[in-house]
Amino acid sequence: MTKRKIEVCFSPELIHLHELENKIVVVVDIFRATSTMITALGNGVASITPVADLETCRAMQSEGYVIAGERNGQTAEGFTLGNSPLAYLDGAYANQKIAMTTTNGTLAIEKSKAGSKQVLIGAFVNLQATAHYLTSQNQNVLIHCAGWKGKFNLEDSLYAGALVSLLEENFEFDCDGAIAMKGLYESNKSDLAGFLAQASHAKRLQNHQIEADIDFCLSLNLFPIIGRLQGQELVAQMIKTK
Ligand code: MLT
Repeated sequence: MTKRKIEVCFSPELIHLHELENKIVVVVDIFRATSTMITALGNGVASITPVADLETCRAMQSEGYVIAGERNGQTAEGFTLGNSPLAYLDGAYANQKIAMTTTNGTLAIEKSKAGSKQVLIGAFVNLQATAHYLTSQNQNVLIHCAGWKGKFNLEDSLYAGALVSLLEENFEFDCDGAIAMKGLYESNKSDLAGFLAQASHAKRLQNHQIEADIDFCLSLNLFPIIGRLQGQELVAQMIKTK
């Protein structure tokens, strides 16, 4: 297989600068959207429909969806389920269809669709499975960081560095961002939690007494699945990594 290319987009505000045509786009929102989505799929949720706006998401309840909504790190008004990965553990919502809207993650997914070959969601909780899958595909890859309200954030960019580091044998770097984040990840991988404790959204969640979610979102390889967009729904696909 020829060497494929990998690049990093640090925010949905910058996605117009990247060519999506024929690429696999991996959307990442470590605190917490994509970590929560992979955890939900890993606990038997039937599918997740990412929705950009609150109104549309609320309305899906009448169509039988379980609705989940978060804004600024907190459960959105009129929603019972916010954006905590812990809510999905132990198959709490197994076989159910979820409609989900978050501050940044669902917007980044929306902006990754046009022209791309495939859209995946990535998180530390399924890092190995995603790397294994991408290595088996003969496609160039774009890692799309959700960031925070258009700005760069540390945790998503560090995940990009981790994925680039795992893929470097079979991929060539197509941007300086990939090189920079690989270096940042490799110099901090022995203490991810310590390094990311200073991240602005980690502090925001701490202010909301949501520390447990932060620790959980930094757990490595809990689920041997990828999360991929099939039509408008995210579904799980088991990946044999061994
Ligand atoms: C987001 O979409 O910005 C995040 O997932 C926010 C959060 O869950 O705190």
